[in-house]
Amino acid sequence: MKNVLNRCLLPDQSSRYGVASASLKCLFLLAFLLVCLLACRQSQTAEPPANPIGTAIAIAAPLGLPPVPVPATNMPTAEAIALGRKLYFDTRLSSDNTFSCASCHSPYIRFSDGLQVASGVRAQRGTRNTPTVLNAVYRQTQFWDGRARSLEQQASMPIANPIEMDLPHELCVTKLSAIQSYQDEFAKVFGPGRITMDKIEKAIATFERTLLSGNSAFDRYQFGGDKTAMSVAAIRGLAIFSDKNRGNCTVCHTINEKFALFTDDKFHNLGVGMNASGELTDLGRFEQTKIEADRGAFRTPSLRNVAKTAPYMHDGSLKTLREVIDFYIGGGNSNPQLDKDMKPIKLSAQERDDLIAFLEALTGELPPNAEAPGKE
Ligand code: HEC
Ligand code: HEC
Repeated sequence: MKNVLNRCLLPDQSSRYGVASASLKCLFLLAFLLVCLLACRQSQTAEPPANPIGTAIAIAAPLGLPPVPVPATNMPTAEAIALGRKLYFDTRLSSDNTFSCASCHSPYIRFSDGLQVASGVRAQRGTRNTPTVLNAVYRQTQFWDGRARSLEQQASMPIANPIEMDLPHELCVTKLSAIQSYQDEFAKVFGPGRITMDKIEKAIATFERTLLSGNSAFDRYQFGGDKTAMSVAAIRGLAIFSDKNRGNCTVCHTINEKFALFTDDKFHNLGVGMNASGELTDLGRFEQTKIEADRGAFRTPSLRNVAKTAPYMHDGSLKTLREVIDFYIGGGNSNPQLDKDMKPIKLSAQERDDLIAFLEALTGELPPNAEAPGKE
């Protein structure tokens, strides 16, 4: 035993181990060469990431919203916004030319679809409610479970998703490359080179960065100094919403001093989506993190424009704002991971109405370029 240990610890002691280590080095060298060769081939076929070449422009945030975050690798240019807008409304990004991003995130339904759960190509039904894309640029993660880290990463996912647009990325690139006007526009935005998914993602994400909605009655009241902008009922509703001992809503739907996103961007379990046997049917954030506390947790949605985007919750199970308020009055659905801030609350009929009046005051303005190109 001692002998073996010695051999292992002291290198090249015996000729046998000398040979072994020499052949090991050889093997490493070979493996290294192979990796180099593969990398070389890869660089010949794959395009490197491309950044927009034009002049970067500032996207102004409306009243009530903070400055718009933009990544250094995808600065917004007027040309990129125009290209992204065209892609966003183009049904050719789906396998059978029936679905665009706007089919589910429609400018006429506050960039949502009004359905309980999304419906994609060939009338396939998903399992989750379509969130609005308005103000999505402010989210630290995308999707109810936060599985995408950026708007760029998110944008290519529904294109390939078999129950949404069902267009594999290679086909998407081939399809768009065969369209001369797209070739010209991509070259204008990114310079010469082939169309790639990287460029498609970047253009769509840049257009989405312009989909902002603020300047609601609440914003004018809270941040614009216009104390007559909100109704008296909505003002009472705001007090209930913010009061720890009444609504206690701001603990998750955040209002900051200079702006309000109405979300903490964190994941909470409210017990939504329970079947008849008391089991949560969608594990939400848990699927991503495998952390027990994340079981049945979903990212807090913003409440801006919420009066226009029924039905509610990740599964669209609550039809009206009144049903949502009643759900909170009951303290959510009891389960082992229920958030500690979910407790039954007491609200009079008047207070419920006030809370709804407040949520209705969160309906903001739509951005100027909200509709499909050519329709403004
Ligand atoms: C078939 C309907 C459908 C289509 C088409 C679709 N989406 Fe979505 N979108 C959804 C649903 C449903 C979700 C939520 C899914 C989830 O959380 O698991 C979502 C989530 C998102 C989000 C995240 C928002 C948030 O608050 O987390 C963004 C951004 C988004 N979609 C943009 C797009 C873009 C860009 C396209 C086009 C390339 C697109 N969507 C196409 C249904 C659709
Ligand atoms: C513990 C954090 C938390 C608290 C407290 C909280 N919410 Fe929520 N809210 C969430 C989360 C998370 C969701 C999504 C849950 C899901 O779909 O599973 C949500 C969903 C909603 C929705 C539906 C939005 C949509 O687009 O589907 C409304 C409306 C809402 N909350 C209003 C309120 C009001 C009003 C209060 C106070 C009475 C409140 N919330 C308190 C975290 C919270």
